[in-house]
Amino acid sequence: MTRQKMKQTIDIETLGLKPEGLPKHIAIIMDGNGRWAKKRLMPRSFGHRAGVEALRSVIRTASDIGIEVLTLYAFSTENWNRPVEEVSGLMQLMVEYLKREARALHENNVKITTIGDLSRLEGKLIDEIQWATELTKDNDGLNLNIALNYGGRDELTRAIKKIASALDMGKISSEDIDTALVEEYLDTAGVPDPELLIRTSGEYRFSNFMLWQTAYTEFYFTNTLWPDFNGDLLVEAIRDYQKRDRRFGSL
Ligand code: FPP
Repeated sequence: MTRQKMKQTIDIETLGLKPEGLPKHIAIIMDGNGRWAKKRLMPRSFGHRAGVEALRSVIRTASDIGIEVLTLYAFSTENWNRPVEEVSGLMQLMVEYLKREARALHENNVKITTIGDLSRLEGKLIDEIQWATELTKDNDGLNLNIALNYGGRDELTRAIKKIASALDMGKISSEDIDTALVEEYLDTAGVPDPELLIRTSGEYRFSNFMLWQTAYTEFYFTNTLWPDFNGDLLVEAIRDYQKRDRRFGSL
């Protein structure tokens, strides 16, 4: 039995999923919280709060069906350009989320990690992240990977700086630089590339997300706004993915 199969807590064939070829890593651009709130004549913060509910359902399903890594684009390097109240509301929401949910996630064997440059985040959020990642570090169930102050270009720029400094210090030589070495310097070092990327809300853009890692990723776009997304719709996206013919540039 494969490691992935052992982690499944439900019979995925009853969901119309094939056990072979289940994506190990799914990445999600959670978009549409603001429009969801606007449709209800509510402030954008209401949409972000509803977005956390969607998150709960998606994490549970991903964990139950044996997905290894779920990367969520929670805050991009460009999101700092939003009104200051929205930015601080999002930061507060994430602090609350980790305070409230990290223990339950830990009990469900979920390992919490982050990607992105955490140095610009508020101290109390950094503290919660450090606590949650430390608490869950030995878990071997779903890896919930939260992208915070993350941008694909920023990640690559930071990787290039680290490689340049390793060169300066004589730790590596220019002949050592190949794709495998670059991967070691990315925030996602050691994590398989996502096979499936989902973007909600009917937008067809990358928005600076995982630029290196998505070279051969399959995309799934849905008009559903993020707060209306849930575990059943995640399964629908995976069923769609499993119908595809992945050739990786070959025939
Ligand atoms: C995009 O919708 C959503 C975000 C920028 C934030 C996503 C955050 C959450 C779902 C909640 C917090 C996350 C964690 C991990 C606890 P938008 O605001 O751009 O929507 P719009 O395009 O309709 O305006």
